[in-house]
Amino acid sequence: MPSRQIADNAEELWASVDSYLDKLLLSPDPLLQSALDAGSAAGLPAISVSPLQGKLLEILAQTQSARRILEIGALGGYSTIHLARALPPQGRLITLELEPRHAEVALANIARAGLSHAVELRLGPALDSLLQLQSEGVEPFDLVFLDADKPGYPHYLTAFLPVCRPGTLILADNVIREGKVIDGSSSDPNVQGVREFLALLAGDPRFSSTAVQTVGSKGHDGFSISRVLSL
Ligand code: SAH
Ligand code: DHB
Ligand code: MG
Repeated sequence: MPSRQIADNAEELWASVDSYLDKLLLSPDPLLQSALDAGSAAGLPAISVSPLQGKLLEILAQTQSARRILEIGALGGYSTIHLARALPPQGRLITLELEPRHAEVALANIARAGLSHAVELRLGPALDSLLQLQSEGVEPFDLVFLDADKPGYPHYLTAFLPVCRPGTLILADNVIREGKVIDGSSSDPNVQGVREFLALLAGDPRFSSTAVQTVGSKGHDGFSISRVLSL
């Protein structure tokens, strides 16, 4: 059997298992579904975290007792809603988004989910917003979810570290890229971005890090998970 065919079957299997787990473990959630529907109606790319991954974000934020969450890359606010739902009553999430069209959809979805009081969206290049947060001397974040442009990842890490604390949990999406992450000679700027990001985490005693490969409805990818040990 040609290897291409094996790969196609594998992707189908991963998607079927995701569908099985989704139906088994997740309750139907009309607000989350309408957030995805609004995104696709507005022509946003279908690159939100999967429902199962969203639930993982929610559980990790709860386990971390996160009161302050920073998200980099909102798109239509699907992951934002998962994370914001994990906040305690006085908790706050700040999400950074470059594209006005994405921001508009995200804000409408967040409002429909009844989370506007807890979420602030800052429009513009994430790096500018991160420098702005630094200069405001904001309270440190308990959890950072990094999911914007991949070439920016190393720069974002450096820029959000000053608004972290020992114990901050840093999650970064899409660091495996169908395995392309292992190709050091790749000319893909996304691959080079996540490689530099992982190298920064690896070479720095201020972080304790791992990464988890994932397969499912979004193919083969993965998250890095880091704990800030010291600043
Ligand atoms: N976290 C979202 C998906 C984010 S997709 C979810 O899972 O639901 C990546 C987002 O990052 C896109 O909306 C894109 O517009 C945004 N983005 C890309 N470059 C950016 C930049 N320089 N600053 C801020 N956001 C950026
Ligand atoms: C893309 C971005 C993401 O954050 C993701 O989870 C999947 C795909 C992309 O830009 O193609
Ligand atoms: Mg992503």
